[in-house]
Amino acid sequence: MSVSADGDAGGGHARRDTGGDTGGDAGFIELDGIEKVFDVRRRAGLLRREKHQVRAVDGISFRVPRGEMVGYIGPNGAGKSTTIKMLTGILTPSGGRLRVAGIDPSRERTRLAQRIGVVFGQRTTLWWDLPLIDSYRLMHRMYRVPDARFRVNLERCVELLDLAELLDVPVRQLSLGQRMRGDIAAALLHDPEVLYLDEPTIGLDVVSKAKVREFLRDLNAERGTTVLLTTHDLTDIEQLCKRVMVIDHGRLLYDGALAGLHEVGESERTLVVDLERELPPIGLPGARTVRVEGPRQWLAFPATESAAPLVARVAAEYPLVDLSVREPDIEAVIAKMYVDRSAV
Ligand SMILES: Nc1ncnc2c1ncn2[C@@H]1O[C@H](COP(=O)(O)OP(=O)(O)OP(=O)(O)O)[C@@H](O)[C@H]1O
Ligand SMILES: [Mg+2]
Repeated sequence: MSVSADGDAGGGHARRDTGGDTGGDAGFIELDGIEKVFDVRRRAGLLRREKHQVRAVDGISFRVPRGEMVGYIGPNGAGKSTTIKMLTGILTPSGGRLRVAGIDPSRERTRLAQRIGVVFGQRTTLWWDLPLIDSYRLMHRMYRVPDARFRVNLERCVELLDLAELLDVPVRQLSLGQRMRGDIAAALLHDPEVLYLDEPTIGLDVVSKAKVREFLRDLNAERGTTVLLTTHDLTDIEQLCKRVMVIDHGRLLYDGALAGLHEVGESERTLVVDLERELPPIGLPGARTVRVEGPRQWLAFPATESAAPLVARVAAEYPLVDLSVREPDIEAVIAKMYVDRSAV
């Protein structure tokens, strides 16, 4: 944990952010007009290939204060992973200004590596053929983590991520959920101040997802680790992040509270009702029947409204066997936001 040298006279809140070069708390992660353009060659006919540019990130600006846990979401190909790669220094931006803890990632990638951890859900950073513990030992040396600190961090991760039984298993034999927990531990053994998670729950079952979320929540609350989380699972965001950023086509569409996203996206939840028998579509104020299949009906209602009054009326007025509420899926919210935006 770094200590501020300026004495923090204002008790914290009045402290001026120095523009990021010191990694001020307000702009711990800072992006100003960040761009990433890829040159790609595309087949144009049998033999010809023509040059073509992909603007993966197209002028993104945001700040993340120290200790915040932020969701970074958007449809496939939106530019999320590209942003994270720039934040780690793996990729160099084509334009704009970027600072993480006051460091320019692509210029000082090694120095930054000591202060960040990264998990790419789609790709492991562990050594495939080695037992898990050997990967950790290698990282211990690579990051030059002091022995005592390494031991404490390892013990904590092993306990909280349930890794004790897995330490001697070669990574290739781990299930996806076990491997993901192993990867998260690997990213944390050197006590990073920032953790980037690129789809850490992808492909996990509900129990594993819950474990990973609980661990991340505790990490953020207890250690104040700043977390930037990319996911396609809205529940990850709902359970972990107060703030969410939505990008599409490399541009920031939204930056604010999750509830606000539902308002902007005008998303809907669905009440799935199983009736005792087939009936005409249920007609109730504030809800529309969007689908009927035999005795089952789907009623859409605004995601910003409580489901309780609707559930109460359906239960009171219809012969009910069962019902459940489905959350809007994030792709639909984003897709709708984007369609609405381009229609303006
Ligand atoms: N190395 C590369 N070379 C060329 N194009 C690339 C490269 N990496 C990414 N792209 C392109 O940049 C765009 C953004 O990709 P990116 O991987 O950042 O998306 P994403 O938001 O992470 O998507 P997903 O949800 O599918 O993971 C895509 O059009 C992708 O094809
Ligand atoms: Mg990605």
